[in-house]
Amino acid sequence: MFAERASFFQGIPNALYREKEAITRTGSLLIDLVSANLHAHGIHYPRSILKRAFSFAASQAKNYCPDPQGQQIARGAIQKYYAEEGVSIPDDQIVLTPGTSLSYLYLFKLLANSRDEILCPTPTYPLFDSIAALCDVKIVSYRLAPSRKGSIGGALGRDDASPAKSASPCKRWEIDFDHLQSKISEKTRTLILISPHNPTGHVANETEIKRFCAIARKHDLPIISDEVFSPFLFKAEHLFRPVETDAPLVFTLNGISKMLALPGVKIGWIAVTGGQSRVEKSVHLLKGISDTFLPVNEDAQFALPALLHDGKPFMKSYQAQIRHRFQMAVLALMTMPECSFIPPEGGFYLAIKMKDQKSNEEKIALELLRKEKILVHPGFFYDLPSGYLVLSFVSQPALFKKNMERMAHILGVASK
Ligand SMILES: Cc1ncc(COP(=O)(O)O)c(C=O)c1O
Repeated sequence: MFAERASFFQGIPNALYREKEAITRTGSLLIDLVSANLHAHGIHYPRSILKRAFSFAASQAKNYCPDPQGQQIARGAIQKYYAEEGVSIPDDQIVLTPGTSLSYLYLFKLLANSRDEILCPTPTYPLFDSIAALCDVKIVSYRLAPSRKGSIGGALGRDDASPAKSASPCKRWEIDFDHLQSKISEKTRTLILISPHNPTGHVANETEIKRFCAIARKHDLPIISDEVFSPFLFKAEHLFRPVETDAPLVFTLNGISKMLALPGVKIGWIAVTGGQSRVEKSVHLLKGISDTFLPVNEDAQFALPALLHDGKPFMKSYQAQIRHRFQMAVLALMTMPECSFIPPEGGFYLAIKMKDQKSNEEKIALELLRKEKILVHPGFFYDLPSGYLVLSFVSQPALFKKNMERMAHILGVASK
């Protein structure tokens, strides 16, 4: 009775999630170190601004008058946001969506036929497989790998002023360009870049962006640039973006779920840049796709300008909090001989590598859950090589430290 693709969504829980459900059923408190749900970690967009923005929006949206591209007032606010970032994107090149995940779905539908290939970084967070299953396209992975050379700068990022630390090279993740090139085939339809990246924390530097875009140009391929973690940079002052290059066609994705800690408001966007005729055609077609559903909440669209503008002081303090939590997490992890890690350059996540080569990451994750009620993900959920665990560092620093101590205990026991 059901389509083959539906089997992908059967959701047979793996051993870790079976255990998690069993713990939840007993009513025990579970510490979810993977969730980057900011509200669960005490970060909330100010209620007073939300109320004001939505009460204004309700008056504006009272006569339903949808625009499949998104209301001009919302697109204008996004144009202004980019202008303040030093990037010029006219509002008529922006299409509103109900979030970045849906932006991907629109773009896969726009760019790829059945069984065409989409190049995506690995490790990766697990969203793409389900969107690819819905769109009947094939995800082909290109590698992000730990750099062979170090880059100058301490683990704590640009605030790391201690001479000893800042002079010492620090490893980073980087794009394996040979691997990327080797994966491009006749069926490749687009290259995805995620910077800052989930879950490694890799942020593509200027050289990487230029090389990535040169490859896109050479093969005449569009780029999907996922920048949902763009406000959270720990090393670079400035995020280099494909939109700043002469790549043939760039779809820049962002939204307010991470940027303003407002995932429930469901506002995202696709900003289209590149060659003029391709941009016009893309926007026209994306409008058609959006018109099929008209899915973006009208009140949320009218609230967006105030959410972005009046939320600036909150954004500043929120960014500072994430930065502080990142630094505290790095300090806590540096005291753990049981594991090593590459300090994230941005985002909310990091991958840690267990020192004991014999440790099995799934077994460790299960043990952590059973004995300490702490949930972390084994790296293979993200296609990481064996020996990695993935977690988010956005929880309160004292809690993070305490949980790492409990984790160190399990890791230490495992290595004996
Ligand atoms: C890299 C990345 N892109 C996109 C998304 C989804 O964003 P949205 O909440 O706007 O759908 C996530 C969610 O965690 C993410 O990690």
